[in-house]
Amino acid sequence: MTQTFLLLPGDGIGPEVTEQARRVLDVVAPDLKFSEALFGGASYDEHGLPLTDEVLNQARQSDAILMGAVGGPKWAGVARHLRPEMGLLKLRKELDVYANLRPAFCFPALADASSLKREFVEGLDIMIVRELTSGVYFGEPRGIDDLGNGERKGYDNACYTSSEVRRVARVAFEIAKGRKGKGGLYPGVTSTDKSNVMESGVLWREEVIKLHQEEFANEPLDHILADAMAMQLVKKPKDVNVILADNLFGDILSDEASQLTGSIGMLPSAALGEPGTPGLYEPVHGSAPDIAGKGLANPCAAILSAEMALRWSLDRADAADRIWNAVGKALEDGARTADLGGSMSTSQMGDAIIAAL
Ligand code: NAD
Ligand code: IPM
Ligand code: MN
Repeated sequence: MTQTFLLLPGDGIGPEVTEQARRVLDVVAPDLKFSEALFGGASYDEHGLPLTDEVLNQARQSDAILMGAVGGPKWAGVARHLRPEMGLLKLRKELDVYANLRPAFCFPALADASSLKREFVEGLDIMIVRELTSGVYFGEPRGIDDLGNGERKGYDNACYTSSEVRRVARVAFEIAKGRKGKGGLYPGVTSTDKSNVMESGVLWREEVIKLHQEEFANEPLDHILADAMAMQLVKKPKDVNVILADNLFGDILSDEASQLTGSIGMLPSAALGEPGTPGLYEPVHGSAPDIAGKGLANPCAAILSAEMALRWSLDRADAADRIWNAVGKALEDGARTADLGGSMSTSQMGDAIIAAL
């Protein structure tokens, strides 16, 4: 049966990097049926909404979705609920893609591109499993209240239910099972929380422990406070295997981990829901307004997000392997965009990867 792939290029460098991913997909999976739609600020400009019902339905009916990036200064003055980023949160929530896989992998050729010394990142291979559809990003009540006398109060609510914690933790344990033998001090799943100060963190830790005892008792499990994990990631990152994190800590830790791989322009992600539902694939980076429109963006994160789509949603591991190997080879041959210390344009980087396929 024909598999359908929805492209949501979005804003800023989003369209530049998804274009390269599309070119690569055309080579390794030419039978895919592509469609493309406006999303984020681009959708707001046209329809007054960052995500229209039509596009949401299109996403629901697709096998996989590749999103570029959303947001930027152009929409800074737009009402909060209509901001490009809100369209992304709504898309994640509506698709119920609760498990966000963010692999931080240092390609051998980039071991000197990281801001850490080579010995700390050479061979680095971490998988961050970030909860994506709950926590403080979605908790109620939230708002900004006027307290009078010029005083205001802004507040959010960090909350998790047991089933929300259990389902994402289960994904982390399953992934760790397939990654035997990796990691030093933290060899299996390392769950992060702030159970020293937050009730939602206490619940998080208790539920992870319960699930572990019930279903994964033979798998290694560690717990670490989220701030200590941030430190560990730059102290001895190769000791870490699978990080389980809530929505907010996972967001922060994945940007931190990205720098270990050489550049945030290298980090892909997969957002997965229940089996049989479409996965949402996105680079971890944003719309990079500072370099948008200049052809400077590194397309690797978008191309590797397409690679994850082939692997996790479309059951095409062979095509995914081809992309993975081609990215590695292009880097080996010296292909570099500016963020990696080179001078290639976005499309030249795409050319180099396609040539290596
Ligand atoms: P950013 O990731 O867009 O940029 C951070 C820095 O990294 C910038 O210097 C940028 O030039 C650089 N960078 C990012 N991607 C790159 C790439 N592919 N190649 C080379 N350099 C790259 O983060 P930000 O500046 O904090 O956010 C900008 C906008 O993007 C904001 O509106 C934010 O909300 C949005 N954002 C969207 C997503 C998403 O769509 N998934 C993710 C993060 C941020
Ligand atoms: C990410 C981004 C998003 C997030 C924003 C743009 C809503 O930072 O995908 O990492 O915070 O989840
Ligand atoms: Mn982020």
